[in-house]
Order: sequence, then C-alpha cells, then structure tokens
Amino acid sequence: MNAHPVNTEAETPDMRRLLEAELGGELPDERGRFGPFGGRYVPETLVPAFERLEDGVRRYLHDPEFQSEYRHELTNWVGRPTALTFAGTLSERWGAEVWLKREDLAHTGAHKINNAIGQALLAKRLGAERVIAETGAGQHGVASAAACARVGLPCRVYMGAVDIERQAPNVDRMRRLGAEVIPVESGDRTLRAAIDEALRAWVADPAGIYYLLGSAVGAHPYPYLVRELQSVIGEESRRQMIESAGGLPDAVFACVGGGSNAIGLFYPMLGDDCEIVGVEAGGRGDGLGENAATLATGTPGVLHGCHTMILQNRDGQVQETHSISAGLDYSGVGPEHAFLQATGRVRYVSAGDDEALEALEELCEAEGILTALETSHAFVAARRWARENPGKRILIGNSGRGDKDMPTLTRYPARIRSGGHESHGHENYGHENDSHE
Ligand SMILES: Cc1ncc(COP(=O)(O)O)c(C=O)c1O
Repeated sequence: MNAHPVNTEAETPDMRRLLEAELGGELPDERGRFGPFGGRYVPETLVPAFERLEDGVRRYLHDPEFQSEYRHELTNWVGRPTALTFAGTLSERWGAEVWLKREDLAHTGAHKINNAIGQALLAKRLGAERVIAETGAGQHGVASAAACARVGLPCRVYMGAVDIERQAPNVDRMRRLGAEVIPVESGDRTLRAAIDEALRAWVADPAGIYYLLGSAVGAHPYPYLVRELQSVIGEESRRQMIESAGGLPDAVFACVGGGSNAIGLFYPMLGDDCEIVGVEAGGRGDGLGENAATLATGTPGVLHGCHTMILQNRDGQVQETHSISAGLDYSGVGPEHAFLQATGRVRYVSAGDDEALEALEELCEAEGILTALETSHAFVAARRWARENPGKRILIGNSGRGDKDMPTLTRYPARIRSGGHESHGHENYGHENDSHE
C-alpha cells in the first residue's frame, strides 16, 4: 500500500482558509473543530466531565505557573530536550542527510511521557482523586503510571488482552510503578476496546476521576490538549535542526497511530517550507481488517466522541484492525490529522508489517538504536522518499524504544547477525502467530 491519492478538497477556497486559520493557531475553534473534523459527540452522562476538563484546560494549560511547573518536570524528570542524532550510516545508504529526534531517550522510553506528566499535573490542579488511562503498546500506560507516582495520584490502566500479551514487559513495568492494570476482554481486545472501557469507568465517577487519554484522539478538548503537550517535540526539533544541521529539514516523517507524536512533531513545522509525511500501519494488506491505515483507506465517521476518519464498513460498524505494532493498531485517528490530510498540507502514507520489521533491523544494525515497532513505520516511508529525492535533509521522529517489542520480535528470525549481514532476501517474516482476530 502506498501514498494516499492527492486530495482534491485541498484546492477549495474553504480548505485554504481553514489551513490559514490552522497556521495562525486558531484551530480548533470554540466547538473543538478542525474544519469538518473534531468536535464532541459524547453521551449526556459524560458532558459534565468534558466541560469540567475543558474549563480546566482553559484555565491552567497556558497559565504561567502551570507552564513553569510543566517545563520544570520536562527538564528535570523527563530529561528534555531529547537529543537530535545525525544518522551517518543511514545517510550514506539512503543518499540523504538523515536526522533523528530521539523521543526514545525520554524518561520511560517514548514521547508518551510529555503528555502524561502534563495531564497528571492538570489532574492534580483539578482536584482529581484518581487517574485512569488506556494503553495500546503499554508506553502510555507506563508513562501514566510513572507520572501519577510522581504527582502522588493512584492510577488504573485499561489494556486490551491482546496487547497485554504482546507488550508483556510494559505490563510488569506499570505494575511496578504502582498502577493497577485491568485487562479488557471485550470488543477487539486492543486499544479501541481499552478506550471504550476507560470512558465507561469515567462515567461512574466523573468528579473524582481524571481520564488521562494517551493520544491526540477523542472528544474535545483532548486532541487540542495532547497536541499542546506534545508540541515540545517539534519546537525542540526546529531549534536543534537550525543549530546542528544548519537548517530546517526538506521532509519530516512520523508514525501515526492516534497521532500524538506526529502532531507534536508536525504542528510547529506546519508553516515551514518542508514536506510533512505521516505514516500509518499498512499491516498485511489493503483489505478492511488487514491494516490500520485509517487515513489512507477509512471514511468519515464518529469514534470515541470525535468526528474523524475511521475504519468502518458500509453500515457504519467500526472494524477491527491489524498491525504488528500495538500502538498503531487503532481504527480511528486524531481529527487534526484528518483535517491536515484534507487540506493537503500533510501527506499520509502507509508501511506494512514486514517493511517495518525490516526497517527496525536496519536501524539496529546501522545506528545501534533498537526502535519501537510503531516508529519503524516512519523509517520505511523516509527511506522510500530519500530514494526518490536524493541529497535532501530528512528528519524522522524516533518516537520510542523497542525493548517493549521483544516478545513480538523474538517470534521473527533476526536476519542480521552480529558481525555482518545474513541476507534472506526480501522474503516475508511470516505472521502466523500475530493475528488477534
Ligand atoms: C513508541 C510509540 N510510537 C508511536 C505510538 C503511536 O501513538 P501516537 O500516534 O499517539 O504517537 C505509540 C503508541 O503507543 C508508541 O508507543
């Protein structure tokens, strides 16, 4: 599966006007909408909870005192700024200048911590008694558990039974960090079901519970809140590229599950003269249920309180997805990405399971970085682009580290052995054990 066809809507005056509003920092609008996408479609029982959250975000997020506490934690606890690494071997091989934004070096091993600590501080300000969170790859669960321990709030994490199995190291980490992990056996037993379950739990005690959502998805104000907390990635990257690379990149790549690391990297660069590419999970094929390429193959609909692109059948039934990476295995996507695709400002492509595995191995062997399976998808698209555009400067969001993926990786034979290549050509890795359907 390759690039999404060029979106003709981008040419309409309305979309151009909306893109200008986005570049001017005016979106989402007061109803939480990014043009036709976003908003808040939630049951009556959840309206007060969302209103309380929205008030809190308006009151605290850009308050100087809150910001100074948040920035202090980013520097002293998370370990920011994360490094910008020049990938010398990849650059030589790909015929490009390749730079990596190292979110894998952030505390707990992924970008998720930027959002988790920000929201944990917000939960504290809002007087919450406990925090709930959902998780797919477990990275957000670990980040939430750590952030809650840091601010002194109890934490419960909902996680699909399929993901519990394939991301076992993270389940243990969450428990050790003091979180209670609740296995979700309903629905697709992955991220979508975990979000459903967390929303259900929130309804039971909307005043006492803070729901710490892990990606730029869901009803307003979450997509906005998460974007604001993750934009530190793009802000730092811009600065570091100018300082270390001598200029901004020609192209920027990030993987897209719900879209939080991607929007964090992309948002501060939307006004720059660079190509921006989001990379979804192409899974094992084009058919519905075979991938999680929501923007490439989905249609507009409502999921988790938000109007966005989703993978659904003709009757509007949300479909199960497949990806080798738990963090991309989601049948929706953040509304801002749906909007950016419609405007034509960001291009979304997909990378398959086998390609992601191969990219993961190449990065290990070439640069000594074991990246996450989610992140590997971005490398696939970056390499493709580099081959088509020789000599350009590329920035890749290295969203997280791959230690959590060892249970999955041990199922596939390593094709590259220590001391050199063991070429197995381009045969498939074989995914007979990887299905969760
Ligand atoms: C390392 C890593 N990258 C990317 C993602 C995808 O999430 P998002 O699209 O919100 O960045 C995840 C999700 O768990 C992750 O763990």
